[in-house]
Amino acid sequence: MNEIIVYGSCYGTTKKYAEELSGKTGIEAVSCKAVNDINRYQTIIYMGGLYAGGVEGMKKTLKNLNDITGKKLIIATVGLADPTDKQNIDHIRNNIRTQVSPEIYEKARIFHLRGGIDYSKLSLLHKTMMKLVYKKALSVPEEEKTAEIRAMIETYNKQVDFVDLNSLEPVIESLV
Ligand SMILES: Cc1cc2nc3c(=O)[nH]c(=O)nc-3n(C[C@H](O)[C@H](O)[C@H](O)COP(=O)(O)O)c2cc1C
Repeated sequence: MNEIIVYGSCYGTTKKYAEELSGKTGIEAVSCKAVNDINRYQTIIYMGGLYAGGVEGMKKTLKNLNDITGKKLIIATVGLADPTDKQNIDHIRNNIRTQVSPEIYEKARIFHLRGGIDYSKLSLLHKTMMKLVYKKALSVPEEEKTAEIRAMIETYNKQVDFVDLNSLEPVIESLV
């Protein structure tokens, strides 16, 4: 098998997307913590949850990728903020640009999926981070609130699930 789905997921929403994609395509899905020789694969689909703009596990995983000539690369992010909002997309992509080489950034097809959050399950570190971000977000003037800020205020301390497995369709189409 020359294809792989690698996922970076702290609370399971990205894993859920990765497993669904795996089931639909027959491509094995592996946690970024368990992936061995990434250079073996011709097609690499990296799926990661967004954490303060970073794509969980992506930088560490893709930095081991040497020659990408002739390879197919796909990156799919999973976040809380509206993945159809242009400003949010630009923000995510600018962050991705700082996490992978220019060659990988140019070559990869990038998709954005929506995840969820359950505050009762967050680690103490993540809870503390969100509390700080929430307090800061409240002080942003209404007209300056981005989709990311709005999503975080609306969902603060709640349990929300925006996972939409149908949103994987464009990712699947890009594989054929
Ligand atoms: C500490 C922290 C930071 C986050 N940062 C972002 C962010 O920058 N953008 C975003 O859209 N979602 C952000 N989220 C929401 C996660 O991306 C969302 O919960 C996602 O579904 C997590 O994926 P996972 O369940 O696979 O770990 C953040 C969540 C936490 C706990």
